[in-house]
Formats: sequence, structure tokens, C-alpha cells
Amino acid sequence: MKFFIDTADTAEIRELASTGLLDGVTTNPSLIAKSGRDFIEVIEEICEIVPGPVSAEVAATDHETMLAEGKRLARIAPNIAVKVPLTPDGLKTCKVLSGEGTMVNVTLCFSPGQAILAAKAGASFVSPFVGRLDDISTPGMELIADICQIYSQYPDFETEVLVASIRHPMHVIEAARMGAHVATMPGSVIRQLFSHPLTDKGLAAFLADWAKTGQSILGKDGAKDDKKAPSRGQG
Ligand code: G3P
Repeated sequence: MKFFIDTADTAEIRELASTGLLDGVTTNPSLIAKSGRDFIEVIEEICEIVPGPVSAEVAATDHETMLAEGKRLARIAPNIAVKVPLTPDGLKTCKVLSGEGTMVNVTLCFSPGQAILAAKAGASFVSPFVGRLDDISTPGMELIADICQIYSQYPDFETEVLVASIRHPMHVIEAARMGAHVATMPGSVIRQLFSHPLTDKGLAAFLADWAKTGQSILGKDGAKDDKKAPSRGQG
């Protein structure tokens, strides 16, 4: 399963990219507004930090302008995925851009029927919003199960299920159980995935016991001792 971060905060993207566990980035107009930065400039910077897909969303609602905006965004870097809304004009734009070899992420998906349309339009990604469905007392993860099951019936569908609007680690775990290809989430959820109280407790106990031994793995001279280490096969 691929992990994308859902933010336009480049400091946070850099921090999590350094773990080597980040496969891509998603942004949307709300996240760009939150960053307070110039849209094109921030997307350029993100594309330099993360080699995987970086979603950048069009702002127009009519096909002609969406297409022009999509082409402008696609010129930023080869790893741009142009994000279009799940509307007739959005899907028309998706079909054209996908046909030209540009990755497209169809966003604001709230039903299995919409997800079928996104796949037929050649989207690289479809983004069902689980948290926003949960917010209105409709089980968001049931939509993911439906889409994964439907897509699995059609091996020629190349669209990846990108679970969006994730609120907590259980959304990620359930999405992985269902075989969703990608989860995009805030940095806070990625950090929560790392965390377990028994890991913290166990590590504290190991460190306390290690301190009692008075030993150092790197020796008094620290990493410099590496040079003295015999190479494999020489004893
Ligand atoms: O980027 C799309 C999606 O992840 C937004 O999430 O939390 O605003 O519903 P949220």
C-alpha cells in the first residue's frame, strides 16, 4: 500500500519524506489556502522533494478552462497528477489528459457509480472521501469496500483507489485490509501509525538495561571504529 501525505506544508513533507516511507503527496485548494503560499511555487517545491505522484487541483469548473489549467499544472514536473472534480466536465478533462499521458486524480468521489465513471475516464487515481461520509453518518469504509470489489472484477481498469479524507489510523488499516492501493492522510495520522505505548515502554526498559552494561556499540571513539572493523570473510 502506498502512503501519500495530504498537505501543502513543505516542512512537514520534507520531514516525513526523510523516513523513506512517503510515496506521494496530495493537495487541494483548501490546503493551498492554508499554506498561504503561491500555488505554482509550492507545487514546484513539493515535486522536487517527493519523486512520486503530486496531486495539484484545477480551479475551473468548465472543461476548456480545466484542460488549460491541467496542461499548465502538468508542465510543472513529470510527477504531477492533475486533480479534477468528479463532474461531467471533470471526467471529460480526465479523459483528454489521461489520453495524453498525464496522470489524473479524480477527486470528490462519494459513490461506487462515480468511481466506475472515473475508471472509464482513464483516471490514474480515484479519491473517495471516507471521513466526510463518516461525518454525515454514512460509513465511508463501505464505499472503499464497494469500489475495491467492483474494480477487481475488471482487470483492465488501471485506476488506483486512493483513500482520502482519512481521519485516523483505523481508516488506513481497514483500507489496507480491503486492498486499496493508496492512502492519503495528514502527517498526524502517519505519526499515529508509528506510535504504540508498548513500543515506548519496551524501548525505555531496553535502554535502562543496556545502560547497566556500561557498554557502547561504537566504542569510545564512536563511528571512527568502523575503519578498524574486519571485512566479511576475513575473520
Ligand atoms: O485532499 C482530499 C481529502 O483528503 C480532504 O480531506 O479532511 O478535508 O475531508 P478532509
